[in-house]
Amino acid sequence: MIATNSCTAQQKTTDPAQVVLDNIASRKSVRSYTSEPVPDEMVEKLLRAAMAAPSAKNTQPWEFVVVRDRATLDALGEGLTYAKMLKQATLAVAVCGDLAFERWVHDASAATENLLLAAEALGLGAVWTAADDPVRSSVVRDVLGVPDNMGTLCVIAIGFPSREEKPKDKWKPEKIHYEKW
Ligand SMILES: Cc1cc2nc3c(=O)[nH]c(=O)nc-3n(C[C@H](O)[C@H](O)[C@H](O)COP(=O)(O)O)c2cc1C
Repeated sequence: MIATNSCTAQQKTTDPAQVVLDNIASRKSVRSYTSEPVPDEMVEKLLRAAMAAPSAKNTQPWEFVVVRDRATLDALGEGLTYAKMLKQATLAVAVCGDLAFERWVHDASAATENLLLAAEALGLGAVWTAADDPVRSSVVRDVLGVPDNMGTLCVIAIGFPSREEKPKDKWKPEKIHYEKW
């Protein structure tokens, strides 16, 4: 066998940095899932990744609502116009943030992206669905009982993907400015 550093579609790299970079490049929104439940160990890994995110002054103003109950997932999917996939998802994580912290949206967004990357790494499919506007926030508040002092950023729908999805190529060098605009 010829030793090579290059990666083919069949060969996955073992270079740790490339593994992380490949995971970031592979992440995509997945909106169709099987009925297989997400194991508890995976749920903890998702939440650990979320809480490893950076936050302004390390305030960590996030809180998470983990939803597995079928009726609750269906109620969220029913109420949220752009999150119908929740009716198929076996897991959802609502990402909330303490309104007392000025930058809670940034912090909760960083946590959300970390969770999405962890989902990709674990072979799960996931999608960020917005819950930050008044209409969708009130749905999430009503269904999940989120208190008034907490903002609702999003509900992440999660499950095992029911079909293979491809990541979008978003590399646009023209968006980069070097040294000055
Ligand atoms: C702030 C934000 C809000 C989003 N809201 C929704 C949503 O309500 N419903 C949905 O299906 N996807 C939602 N998405 C997912 C985007 O549609 C998706 O990220 C985008 O099309 C790029 O595709 P990709 O995630 O596969 O790279 C949201 C993404 C972000 C970052």
